Amino acid sequence: MKMVKVGIVGLGRLGRQHAENLAFRIPNCELSAVCSVIPEEVEQAQKEWGIKYAYTSYDEMLNNKELDAIFIASPSGFHCEQIEKALNAGFHVFSEKPLGLYMEEALRVQEVVNKHKDQVFMLGFMRRYDKSYAYAKKKIEEGKIGEPYLIRCYGLDPAKAINGFMQFAKNNYSGGLFLDMAIHDLDLARWFLNVEAKQVWAIGGAYGYPEIAELNDAETGTALVKFEQNKMGVFVAGRNCAHGYHIETEIIGTKGTLRVGTIPEKNMVTVFDESGAVKECSDGFLERFEQAYLSEVEEFISCVREKRQPNVTVEDGVLSTALGYACKESFETGELITVQSPYKVPSSN
Ligand SMILES: NC(=O)c1ccc[n+]([C@@H]2O[C@H](COP(=O)([O-])OP(=O)(O)OC[C@H]3O[C@@H](n4cnc5c(N)ncnc54)[C@H](O)[C@@H]3O)[C@@H](O)[C@H]2O)c1
Repeated sequence: MKMVKVGIVGLGRLGRQHAENLAFRIPNCELSAVCSVIPEEVEQAQKEWGIKYAYTSYDEMLNNKELDAIFIASPSGFHCEQIEKALNAGFHVFSEKPLGLYMEEALRVQEVVNKHKDQVFMLGFMRRYDKSYAYAKKKIEEGKIGEPYLIRCYGLDPAKAINGFMQFAKNNYSGGLFLDMAIHDLDLARWFLNVEAKQVWAIGGAYGYPEIAELNDAETGTALVKFEQNKMGVFVAGRNCAHGYHIETEIIGTKGTLRVGTIPEKNMVTVFDESGAVKECSDGFLERFEQAYLSEVEEFISCVREKRQPNVTVEDGVLSTALGYACKESFETGELITVQSPYKVPSSN
């Protein structure tokens, strides 16, 4: 295939970033169609980027057989239905995380993906394509820290983005803090520790922004996870980080420790002024993961052209949804929850 023609659904905070990457920064790729339920968004995108087709109906976009691939950046509650429809219509599919908000829909999508093995399916766990996380994975594979047995993660959105978040959360059902925000860390934990989760205890509350409790969600939450082989995970997720977008990961092994993003620096500049020596912090996901968003899209288009599947699989989507859902259940019930593994019965340790 010479040129991969893509249609994107969802033109919001992340959809626009993906759309610009697809339209202007990926070789052998053409963004041929844009789709959103908001007509003004579609019109503006079509005009601004010179896109051939524009739709307010997803089903109509799927009737366009000029397209090769569909890129899904709509709210999380639509992912499963839209993935299924696109695969059944014969397209390659990239979907934003999470795969699904419930196990039933995630497992149904897995079946559909497995029925269409000649079509590429990729899930947007972009941190695996971030250069620092990829480097940490390489160090673990080389045995640099021995056997990794503990992971500690912070995934904190900036407090200054709270209005945008409230808008997003009111308009869309995102699945809550653990399925929406912590899901990236839950996926990284499985990737780095190379085991699956068995038990979860999650707690949280709405401390600075009580209005988040009205959405039956946590503003800040913590999950303690027991993995197979007695490995451990501590996950802190939140929406109220005063200093910026703080994504930090520590992986402790029998022979050493790796840390990614201990200070969530904006860049390599230090400002010396009346405040002292200041390292400014990252503003948000679009800034921190700019390279990773581009690299994951490049990988998806390469997979389509080279007729191969990416490393992030639909099973990663199912297993991270199972773990994220268990965190949500534990937070809501106050109980210790056993993760419902769809693939194997948990072993005794
Ligand atoms: N990988 C990441 O780091 C990351 C970061 C942010 C968001 N996300 C994910 O991306 C997805 C979109 O998030 P966002 O922040 O861009 O949301 P958003 O609310 O800013 O944008 C959603 C877009 O989808 C459109 N839309 C809504 N319902 C639709 C429907 N039924 N059919 C077609 N289009 C529809 C809206 O008009 C809007 O254009 C979510 O699933 C979210 O979890 C991932």
